[in-house]
Amino acid sequence: MLSMQAPFFFPTAPFLLFVFAASTIFHLQQRLGKIQHTWEFETLELVTTETSPSPRLGHQTSPQLKGMWTINAIGRLGNQMGEYATLYALAKMNRRPAFIPPQMHSTLAPIFRITLPVLHDSTASQISWQNYHLNDWMEEQYRHIPGEYVRLTGYPCSWTFYHHLRAEILQEFTLHDHVRKEAQNFLRGLQVNGSRPSTYIGVHVRRGDYVHVMPNVWKGVVADRRYLEQALDWFRARYSSPIFVVTSNGMAWCRENIDASRGDVVFAGSGIEGSPAKDFALLTQCNHTIMTIGTFGIWAAYLAGGETIYLANYTLPDSPFLKLFKPEAAFLPEWVGIAADLSPLLKH
Ligand SMILES: *[C@@H]1O[C@H](CO)[C@@H](O)[C@H](O)[C@H]1NC(C)=O
Ligand SMILES: *[C@@H]1O[C@H](CO)[C@@H](O)[C@H](O)[C@H]1NC(C)=O
Ligand SMILES: *[C@@H]1O[C@H](CO)[C@@H](O)[C@H](O)[C@H]1NC(C)=O
Repeated sequence: MLSMQAPFFFPTAPFLLFVFAASTIFHLQQRLGKIQHTWEFETLELVTTETSPSPRLGHQTSPQLKGMWTINAIGRLGNQMGEYATLYALAKMNRRPAFIPPQMHSTLAPIFRITLPVLHDSTASQISWQNYHLNDWMEEQYRHIPGEYVRLTGYPCSWTFYHHLRAEILQEFTLHDHVRKEAQNFLRGLQVNGSRPSTYIGVHVRRGDYVHVMPNVWKGVVADRRYLEQALDWFRARYSSPIFVVTSNGMAWCRENIDASRGDVVFAGSGIEGSPAKDFALLTQCNHTIMTIGTFGIWAAYLAGGETIYLANYTLPDSPFLKLFKPEAAFLPEWVGIAADLSPLLKH
């Protein structure tokens, strides 16, 4: 379990770092991507209808799903949630049984009521796996992945893989009672100027390694003070007495850069990267989400299921990031983007 908490992969494997959501400047490619994306999603829906009678098959022929599929367990909580959900969805689509690695179980099972069985290392090591690399968006060919013993690889965290199974994914990522209750107790104790808030807005500010990695590796920026001000104001304009519940792996920066003078901001996060359960639970128990970058925030928003504000277009157009990542596959269409200020990148 501890090994999963190790600092991220920079600089040995910078590719791994792209595994968080980005919104980007796509120019012409974006149009193309959107068209293609819509098409992919339509075919996905067809698949769902096709496979829905499969429980009936269970009675008739009781087919043993043959083989074993698994996926790499890389990254921290948000990445592994993306890997879990993608394995879940693709294995189901291809009618294969899914098993998770023990490391993934150690990361996810203390927080969520996940149900996929664990594949122990002693068994896994006797199997000759076919590795199958995934991009971070759904593709037509993933509906027909050949092989009985397949290890999916990559860093998928895109709703395009699993949004058609949203109810099941939410079920898999249901918090354990004690985790949810702790978060609920905290939220219930909050007040804005002496009254209970009407609306809870979870704010996740991703700092840590990204503060350096974004400019140095990806020609990008992280969320700045102005973005957060705009995002908070977006909710202040819409709700009468909201409260903002801030979590971050850089809480000190948040205290200095988020204006709490109105009494509607609470710096709640423990910011301990190694034990993310408390922060994550707080965010999911809020009604709405402000995220910056990263899969942690994306998942918190997906599970909270409310209105979501995200940082958009936060790399330069020639960032290598954009070859690996499609913003429209990372952010749900109904989420609201606020464009990043890229001017700090242009000064160098
Ligand atoms: C809370 O009260 C202070 C002082 O009266 C006021 O300035 C502030 O706007 C109030 N905050 C909210 C969110 O109503
Ligand atoms: C907003 O979140 C709070 C805290 O989880 C919850 O008690 C409340 O029912 C939610 N409100 C709505 C409208 O969902
Ligand atoms: C991001 O950039 C694209 C392409 O220039 C643009 O269409 C989109 O509106 C931008 N998003 C935001 C939130 O500004």
